[in-house]
Amino acid sequence: MENQTESKPRRRVILFPLPFQGHINPMLQLANLLYSKGFSITILHTNFNAPKTSNYPNFTFRFILDNDPHDQRISNLPSHGMAAFNRLFVFNEHGADELRHELELLLASEQVSCIITDALWHFTQSVADSLNLPRLVLRTSSLFCFLAYASFPLFDHLGYLNLADKTRLEEQVEGFPVLKVKDIVKLGFKSSTDPIGQMLGNMVKQTKASSGIIWNSFKELEEPELETVIRDIPAPSFLIPFPKHFTASSSSLLDQDRTFFPWLDQQPPNSVLYVSFGSTTEVDEKDFLEIAHGLVDSKQSFLWVVRPGFVKGSTWVEPLPDGLVGERGRIVKWAPQQEVLAHEAVGAFWTHSGWNSTFESICEGVAMIFSPFMGDQAFNSRYMTDVSKVGVYLGTVWEREEISNAVRRVMVDEEGECIRENARVLKQKADVSLMKGGSSYESLESLVAYISSF
Ligand code: UDX
Repeated sequence: MENQTESKPRRRVILFPLPFQGHINPMLQLANLLYSKGFSITILHTNFNAPKTSNYPNFTFRFILDNDPHDQRISNLPSHGMAAFNRLFVFNEHGADELRHELELLLASEQVSCIITDALWHFTQSVADSLNLPRLVLRTSSLFCFLAYASFPLFDHLGYLNLADKTRLEEQVEGFPVLKVKDIVKLGFKSSTDPIGQMLGNMVKQTKASSGIIWNSFKELEEPELETVIRDIPAPSFLIPFPKHFTASSSSLLDQDRTFFPWLDQQPPNSVLYVSFGSTTEVDEKDFLEIAHGLVDSKQSFLWVVRPGFVKGSTWVEPLPDGLVGERGRIVKWAPQQEVLAHEAVGAFWTHSGWNSTFESICEGVAMIFSPFMGDQAFNSRYMTDVSKVGVYLGTVWEREEISNAVRRVMVDEEGECIRENARVLKQKADVSLMKGGSSYESLESLVAYISSF
């Protein structure tokens, strides 16, 4: 953790996260980091999914974009499930005037160095330009994923987005050989000009137009991708492994259960599988039961996060037959994930491959099983399986035998030992990158100097 610099007056940085857990966490970690480096912090946020402000007594919070309860464009939107993401379309289309007004007030009251927004807030670039305010972008997924998104027009042109011939799913993607065609199909949209395709296209365009890009990653993890990014994007890139500096606990939107720790403490090293599918995924009851049976059949101990709402049509885990989980398993609603991953009893992580989860696992040297549901998750899974080689690709077929086999491959088999060794080596590389003169250390220093130069 960093020392605070109290001697000089603090310069203010405004941060504007996307209001979803996987985006709030890295932005608040970045805010903590910049505060520790001597900057004042203002967070712009929607009322929707607002983090607990009392966890951040040193930050100023300003709530924007959804203060009007009568604005039916927003008040009619559900707060859970995928439809909650429709807010992104509304705010990106209609949010500029309100954001400009808010920024004008802030700029009039004190000196602001820059604004840092989530890359998916693409509408913020023109607002920042109109105020001559430098805008940096926080991209919350990998460099590899960004380059894949930037290639969508090409993928569309090659016919991958609207593929009729299902025999081609296992083919390598032309011009992007790490990916398989099925990884692109998994995204579930048909054209680079449909609403999600357009939003991602705008995200790429306005990220390239920004004054700088901050990535939750480190150079040694994605070296070829970094070379491409540096070649293709004039704005400087800064790669900082946030989980190595701060945990994401203080920005958790759900209460974290800690009651399982005495049980976890008693388990032998590397003997427990941690299972969590992130903050937005859902499964049918039938698939939920297959997951439960697969875990039990693997005969490994497990700690399973089942978020309320994960099982469609159920409040929590009601469909589970009594006694199925037995003594080997613990089920909780939400956990302090990074602490769990850092625990010596944890031997592997079965994940939906959201970038935060994937990267937190890398930072703790924990091998993974990948079951991507949507979006960047398929890209993360592919890269981690085939390039970094730190896990096995299971997918979302949800059959108990396949599940128990995958668990045993990683936890018990010789193959798993090799995968776990790769994960340990990657963690060491992350650790070395943070030492004085290391790539992540230098990147953070450059970012601080860059922001201070505005
Ligand atoms: C979403 C997308 O799924 C993901 O692909 C994209 O990269 C970011 O937005 P999410 O589903 O929330 O993210 O997954 P992920 O990116 O893994 O973030 C989940 C966060 O919740 C992690 O920081 C994790 O530590 C935290 N978490 C998860 C907990 O604190 N407790 C839990 O029990 C589970």
